[in-house]
Amino acid sequence: MRKLTLYILFVFATSLVVSCSEYNRKPGRTYAPDMVYSRAVDYYNGTEKIEAEKGSYNKMPVKGTVAREQALPDHISELDTLAANANTCSFTFGEKDIEEGKRLFLIHCAICHGEQMDGNGPLYNSGKFAAMPANLKSGEKYLKFTQGRIYHAIVYGKNTMGSYASQLDTKQRWKIVAYIKKVQSENGGEAFTMVKGENAARDTTKVEDKKAIH
Ligand code: HEC
Repeated sequence: MRKLTLYILFVFATSLVVSCSEYNRKPGRTYAPDMVYSRAVDYYNGTEKIEAEKGSYNKMPVKGTVAREQALPDHISELDTLAANANTCSFTFGEKDIEEGKRLFLIHCAICHGEQMDGNGPLYNSGKFAAMPANLKSGEKYLKFTQGRIYHAIVYGKNTMGSYASQLDTKQRWKIVAYIKKVQSENGGEAFTMVKGENAARDTTKVEDKKAIH
């Protein structure tokens, strides 16, 4: 009897040891391992060099990166007028495009800059918008603005003027620029030349609409 008791105790103790050992432990399946075991990464400390060779988190695009479909590098500053001036339109425009530019200008810009482009839009005149919108039609300053500079103003805004990048796609922005340039040329600005383009393949305008506008 005593032997049997000892035997039972022995079996019980052995099974206890075996079942508790690390070796035999079988954890259940992890449903979402990437959430349970987080990757140990260094925190972002605001410097460019952080773990640059290992991961790709929290990093700015390489300097000068140009996003697809965009003409300007990512993160160029509002004051980077050199980059803005160097940017030129690569579309071929015809009369219909200029008409469309006018339509878009009246929708998006005229409320401040005025239907006549003279800075006398209804919003400014109502007194509810304190900043004087630029008079794009007269004065040395704005008449001399390059097409790239106007495009830049549409993409990034300027002081109290917000960005219109989310409302207007690349081509629509250039159509507005073309319209502004055309009106400026009729008001003492440089000759209007935005009908020539190097990238005519991207143009969707019908051939008969491509009458030259100078
Ligand atoms: C809510 C009012 C408002 C709207 C809408 C608006 N602008 Fe302006 N815009 C301004 C004001 C104000 C300024 C003057 C900013 C300054 O010089 O401080 C300005 C300045 C500009 C300039 C000169 C930028 C520079 O670098 O000096 C251009 C070009 C321009 N706007 C074009 C446009 C075009 C194109 C649109 C439509 C897509 C537009 N704006 C819509 C208020 C507006």
